Formats: sequence, C-alpha cells, structure tokens
Amino acid sequence: MTVSIQSELRLPCGAVLKNRLAKAAMTEGLADSMNRVTERHYRLYERWAKNGFGLMLTGNVHGDRRQLERPGNIVIDGNGGLDELRKLARIGTRDGAHFWMQINHPGRQTSAGINAKPLAPSAITLPMPLAAPGEAQEMTVAQIKDVTRRFVHVATTAREAGFTGVQIHAAHGYLFSNFLSPLANHRQDEYGGSLENRARVLMETLAATRKAVGADFPISVKLNSADFQRGGFGPEESMQVVRWLSDAGLDLLEISGGNYEQMQMVGMGDEAAATGRKVSASTAAREAYFLDYAKQVRPLVKMPLMITGGMRSLSVMDESLASGDCDVVGVGRPICTDPEDCGAKLLRGEATGLPAMERQLSLPRDAFGPDTDDATHKVLESFGQLGWYCLQLIRMGDGKEPNLDMSLAEALAGYEANETATLGAWNRP
Ligand SMILES: Cc1cc2nc3c(=O)[nH]c(=O)nc-3n(C[C@H](O)[C@H](O)[C@H](O)COP(=O)(O)O)c2cc1C
Repeated sequence: MTVSIQSELRLPCGAVLKNRLAKAAMTEGLADSMNRVTERHYRLYERWAKNGFGLMLTGNVHGDRRQLERPGNIVIDGNGGLDELRKLARIGTRDGAHFWMQINHPGRQTSAGINAKPLAPSAITLPMPLAAPGEAQEMTVAQIKDVTRRFVHVATTAREAGFTGVQIHAAHGYLFSNFLSPLANHRQDEYGGSLENRARVLMETLAATRKAVGADFPISVKLNSADFQRGGFGPEESMQVVRWLSDAGLDLLEISGGNYEQMQMVGMGDEAAATGRKVSASTAAREAYFLDYAKQVRPLVKMPLMITGGMRSLSVMDESLASGDCDVVGVGRPICTDPEDCGAKLLRGEATGLPAMERQLSLPRDAFGPDTDDATHKVLESFGQLGWYCLQLIRMGDGKEPNLDMSLAEALAGYEANETATLGAWNRP
C-alpha cells in the first residue's frame, strides 16, 4: 500500500502514530511568572488539536529557570504546575494523538535581558549584536552533567503528566547545537574537539533519558542537517551524528537546520552566501527545505525520519513519504494562520496544500531608515517574521483570531513590547 500522510507509523519503541502529519515545536511564550502552564496554553492547543495530527510537539520546555530562551517559556524545575501539565497533556492526546514535550536548553542563544551570563560550551558570545545576547560563560563539567540530569527530570515528569513522548532539541543554535558547532565550542576536554566529543553531551543525555523513561516511551531528537555557516557544523558531521543516534535506538529524528545567525529553519538564511555551495532547485523554490538532506540520510539509517521546514503542498508531502525519503512531515507556521482546519483538510483529502503566508511577509527596505545595510535588513526581516508568528500564537492563547494584516514592522515592535512586559512580570529566580 502506498504510504501517504494518512498512513499509520509504528516507531521502534512500539508506539504507533495514527498518521504522518505532525505539528512541529513552536515556542509559545504563554507561561505564568513562575513558568507554569496557563489557560492560554489550553486555548491554543485546543485549537491545534482539532487538526487531528498524528503527533504534536510542545514548544521548547526548559529544565532550569535560570537558563531560558524566553521569559514566557514553560519550565519544569520544581516550580509546581503539575496539574496544569496534566491538563495540557489531556488536551494534546485527544483522539489517540501523540503529544510529545520538546526539551531544550538555550545555551548562548538568549538575550542579556533574560540572562546576562548564559551557560555555553565556551566563552564565545553569540556574534549578533542586534540580538543583544548575554555574555557566554564556559560551562564546567559539573554544569554539563547537571544539564543532562535536568533533561531527565523534565522527561520523567512529562511521562508522569501524560505526555506520550519527548524530543531533545539539538538544533537551531541552542546548547546542544552550540556543543556540536566548532565555531561555538572551543573546549579542550572530553566535550570539545573531535566530533565524538562535541556530540558527547547529546549522546549522554539521550542515553540517560532512555534509561529513565524506559524502552517503550518515544524519544526524538531534532538535529540540524547543517548550521549553514562556514566552519560550522556541516552535513557530513551531521550524518555521522545521525548514525550514532540511530545506533542509540532513537524513535524519530527530526531534521531541520540553521540558527539565529542563519535562519535556515524558516527558509530565511542565506545558504549560498554562507556556505559557498549551490542551492538546489527544491530549496530555492522555498518548499521542503531539508528534503535533499533527508534523501542522503535515508540509505544510512533505518530509524524514522521527520522533515520540517517549508512543507506546504500535499503532493510533495505524499511523494516524500511514498518514496521513503521521510516518514513524518512536520509543519509549523501554517497552523499559526489557519489554526484548526488546514491540517484537518489535508488529512481528509479536501485540500492540496497548506497556507504559506511567509512568502508574502517582507519588511520594506527602508522601514528603519534609508541607511539600513543589507545584513541588518535581513536580520530585522527574519526576526520580524518570527515575531509575527509568535504574536499570532499569543493572540490565539488570548482567545483572539490571528491578525493576518499585521506588518513585520508592527510585529517587531509588538514582539519586543510583549517580551519586555513578560520579562517585567517574570519571577526571576
Ligand atoms: C513562532 C515559531 C516558534 C518556533 N519555536 C520553535 C521551538 O520552540 N522549537 C523548535 O525546535 N523549533 C521552533 N520553531 C521552528 C519550527 O519548529 C519549524 O522547524 C519551522 O517553523 C519550519 O517549519 P515550517 O516551515 O512548517 O514553519 C519555531 C518556529 C516558529 C515560526
């Protein structure tokens, strides 16, 4: 039988996804001042659950309130909120859907306002003044081990609360991605240098999590196909890490790419300029950003692969699944503009694709004055787009409809105002 988005998928641990369409992780920013789940999460996930996805992933959840990506993220570190987590898990698992918690440590990729001295593999601050990053602090080995311990605590709590799996975030320039990157990791000890050393914290955390949650509980990793930076974590190294993950018994590898410096995860990095490599037609067409990489990885490993990034037309999704290039298709931004229906229609065969508003969102070249250089404009446009989508999630959490007329300049200002207000109300540990 031809595999399509409607097909079931049995994972190595024995769990079954009822279909192959997944909601990708998207940071919600809706937690209370103690970083606990709120009514706003319930409202948002009630809407998303209506699509009937086989799998939904939460936005990134942290294990330490001192190390946050955003002040409104959910944290599990003894801060209470277990009943609320249980209620959220019930909403996300309705009708046999899987609902997995994504676990993340932001590493050096956080603003100084949230964390003036973020923990990182090396004391190399994110080289992006516009992002106002905190000053990276080299972690001790004890601090590295503590991160693993906290990931395990979040994973076991997620299981107890009723989530049906977890995902370890090792992509997009956050801590594990910092460790993998030769640009961000200059350590001389067993966590730096060779690829094996740079991947050590990820592999140790995966092994410890597996030991704690058991053999029958799905564990996924989100990994960059590449950072798309000269001298950064590249595709050859990524493929070696993929082999190790497969040998370690991973249930689902989600493939993405990029970081704040190269926003390839949302198709807004400058891949050709950053790497000097030719960009393939499918990538240039702004659909299926990581399909070419998945095709290369597929023959190397048996574990299920999920690709996320620009997947919009049903034909591309079904072809990628039928050919076996990937096993699950992840989607993010479309459900921020059409929250309940777009996935459902695709699964019922009533639509041929998902909304792709991102293709229409641009920042006028002179929005911040005629002297803005190209690089600054690109960064503002990328952040503006992320802010635009974040604000749509917040609107839905507040019980409002998405505002598709918002401009990117309004989104930049609105996002900044929201984060400042959340930071102000945050109960800083
Ligand atoms: C508003 C927003 C928030 C995101 N937050 C996360 C996150 O918390 N964790 C993560 O792994 N990826 C995050 N992403 C990336 C998405 O999971 C996904 O990889 C990306 O949006 C590409 O998929 P798409 O083209 O279907 O949107 C976020 C993306 C957006 C737009």
